Amino acid sequence: MLIDNHQRPITYLRLSVTDRCNLRCLYCMPAEGLDWIPHDAVMQDDEIMTLLEHVFLPLGVSKIRLTGGEPLIRKGLPRLIERMAALPGITDLSLSTNGIFLAPLAKRLAEAGLNRLNVSIDSLQPERFSTISRGGDLTRVLAGIEQALAVGFSHLKVNVVMIPGTNDDEIMDFAEWTLREAVHVRFIEMMHVGDRTFFDARKFLPVEAAMARIQERYALESSDRDLVGNGPARIMQIPGAAGTLGFISPMSRTFCDTCNRIRLTADGQIKACLMRPQETDLLGLLRGGASVEQMRELVIASLGFKPEHHDWGANLPIHRTMSQIGG
Ligand code: 5AD
Ligand code: SF4
Repeated sequence: MLIDNHQRPITYLRLSVTDRCNLRCLYCMPAEGLDWIPHDAVMQDDEIMTLLEHVFLPLGVSKIRLTGGEPLIRKGLPRLIERMAALPGITDLSLSTNGIFLAPLAKRLAEAGLNRLNVSIDSLQPERFSTISRGGDLTRVLAGIEQALAVGFSHLKVNVVMIPGTNDDEIMDFAEWTLREAVHVRFIEMMHVGDRTFFDARKFLPVEAAMARIQERYALESSDRDLVGNGPARIMQIPGAAGTLGFISPMSRTFCDTCNRIRLTADGQIKACLMRPQETDLLGLLRGGASVEQMRELVIASLGFKPEHHDWGANLPIHRTMSQIGG
């Protein structure tokens, strides 16, 4: 079992399978001028499988989330998921997507053994959705969600990053969506990772404000739904609703105390903390012919870069965008 210097068991790996994305959300990437990681620097399927099977799973990682960029644009992803799902010791295999390519792939992903899906939608208004994602088509995302529900993905989560002055007037619309549809909406405070100038101009809206706004119309009760993978979200529900509401506050109150995760970027760098610039080159070790023991040692050593708490006011330069880290 991996335990970091602050006695936190690390069992959850967020694995970025590509830094590329078909969208360019305002808070995630700059409008232009972001180079993709060259193809040969990106982990190949076999490399990912080796790292999972011989490094992360033996160290006690049991939960994996595939992220991007946009993971669904990686070639052969369903086959890779199939191979991961067959590994003994994985109890939860999930994926975060922008949903644009979801409709035609949902069935294949379910068959491959994917357990859960998170879809990001920051507006339910087509024009505005397109503005925020710089060109995304909302109807395709909604079709993707419908298809995912139809092929049996339950516990489908919808991530809403609250962008002050842009989508905070839609909080009620998102909340009321859960009355009709079994979607689990999660409001997320915008973080200063990604386009820093954008964050500095907008700051973030505390999730308490979203909660209060919903409570002007509905009595929220805390939900006792046994949702897998709630992680740091506080889960509430409008009484009688089909879905739930989650509130994630990385900024206003950090959930570092219960952090159980590490990240691996598409080019095979371990990031022990989202808010810290330090990275450890695991892929370099693998390609250099290191033994599995050496690679496990490196993962253990990388945990030294997990602080007890992140201090977002400290202004540490984070030299990757969210799309390059994987959220
Ligand atoms: N702040 C908060 N959430 C972000 N995401 C991307 N960038 C940011 C940010 N700066 C979210 C995406 C997606 C998840 C992978 O991370 O909206 O839901
Ligand atoms: Fe792409 Fe997701 Fe970043 Fe939007 S938030 S640009 S969909 S990686």
